[in-house]
Amino acid sequence: MANTQGTTGLRGWIDERFPLTQLWREHLGEYFAPPNFNFFYIFGVLSLVVLINQLLTGLWLTMNYKPAADLAFGSVESIMRDVRWGWLIRYMHSTGASAFFIVVYLHMFRALLYGSYKKPRELVWLVGMLIFLCLMAESFFGYLLPWGQMSYWGAQVIISLFGAIPGIGDDLTLWIRGDYVVSDATLNRFFALHVMAIPIALLGLVVAHVIALHHVGSNNPEGVEIKKYTDEKGKPLDGIPFHPYYTVKDIVGIIVFLFFAAFVIFFWPDGGGYFLEHPNFEPADPLRTPPHIAPVWYFTPYYAILRAIPDKLLGVIAMGGSIVLLFFLPWLDRCPVKSIRYRGASWKVALTLFAIAFLILGYCGSQPPNTTLTMLSRIFAVVYFGFFLLMPFYTSIEKTKPVPDRVGHQTVVIHGAGESKSAVAFGEVDKARMQSQ
Ligand code: HEM
Repeated sequence: MANTQGTTGLRGWIDERFPLTQLWREHLGEYFAPPNFNFFYIFGVLSLVVLINQLLTGLWLTMNYKPAADLAFGSVESIMRDVRWGWLIRYMHSTGASAFFIVVYLHMFRALLYGSYKKPRELVWLVGMLIFLCLMAESFFGYLLPWGQMSYWGAQVIISLFGAIPGIGDDLTLWIRGDYVVSDATLNRFFALHVMAIPIALLGLVVAHVIALHHVGSNNPEGVEIKKYTDEKGKPLDGIPFHPYYTVKDIVGIIVFLFFAAFVIFFWPDGGGYFLEHPNFEPADPLRTPPHIAPVWYFTPYYAILRAIPDKLLGVIAMGGSIVLLFFLPWLDRCPVKSIRYRGASWKVALTLFAIAFLILGYCGSQPPNTTLTMLSRIFAVVYFGFFLLMPFYTSIEKTKPVPDRVGHQTVVIHGAGESKSAVAFGEVDKARMQSQ
């Protein structure tokens, strides 16, 4: 006999004890998504793909890695040379770290383009920001593990930044390192945080992120809420089931992404020194500082902000502030219109300047400092902060265009009994739908 979910057999047995079918329906089969997702909407699912890649390759790396100062570098070399397929697993993991930031930065940029951080998705954004913090912590801890020159000195520089905090700075750095310098004790705790604490937090946050999103429903490139018009069962009139429409579409995107990822992994694993920095091919030497210490590319915009300010404490505050400000985005942006398609020129200019500033800061932070780069970093740090701090003003006087009431302009083919109708305007779509039922 069928249960309340209408399922029988093994699935019925499970459903009476665990909401399997209900979960499937809520998050896939009957999760109604807007029909107009574009290129930018692939990066959420790609973040998931990279997360799974990092967890699996990380697990296998851990089977051969030795978290001890005198063994770590050698164990990574052994993974690369002696362990069967070890080189592939390691390159999948190291390239995966950079891929993670590429897809997550594009994922966040999409939110800026279409106002996905605005009401009712503020919590989706805030949880996303917590994920971003975890990602940064995860890659920072992971970068120490190969115990190369850049691992060692990068960690030394970043941990010493905490020393700028008045009063507690010195004690705090000692507490973080577990020693007076970066040492075996530091490596051990970074390993524990990298393989246990942060991945668990990340997984939990990603689940919360998707639950929050599915509670309010997805935004779309038009920035129009599809939940505004629903049928008598509460189903959005303009929504399409996530499965099979977007599962199939996402598979295409994933395959294209895997082509690019495979190209980098097989032919360009160090990414020209950006994905794996060249000094990291030498073992850590506490007595020899590399001539130029730079973090991996995804941290360089914030590093440029740090270096742009001569005072250490103010530099650290500015660097932290540049990330903290992102948390406040939903409240700094006062414009009622979500999508850039209907927003005013002031927002378009501000967002373009912000994107340019982010890229130039990223470049400046990756290069050895000189007067020109310092000047550039200062100018674009001002642009970066100006984007956020002036946002309440320029977004409240913005001249926006009228926003359509419903997601529009697509042709929908409705298959009725023995015939198919094509309709463009919504009234016609609804009429055709009703006739075909
Ligand atoms: C491990 C990292 C992450 C994963 C696996 C992830 C996953 C996803 C997925 C699967 C979606 C739905 C599909 C889509 O809209 O693209 C989504 C939506 C969203 N994510 Fe993330 N995300 C991650 C990080 C972030 C970060 C760092 C932020 C921002 C701080 C963020 C903000 C958002 C927003 C605002 C949406 C709603 C988009 C919309 O409806 O237009 N996510 N995320």
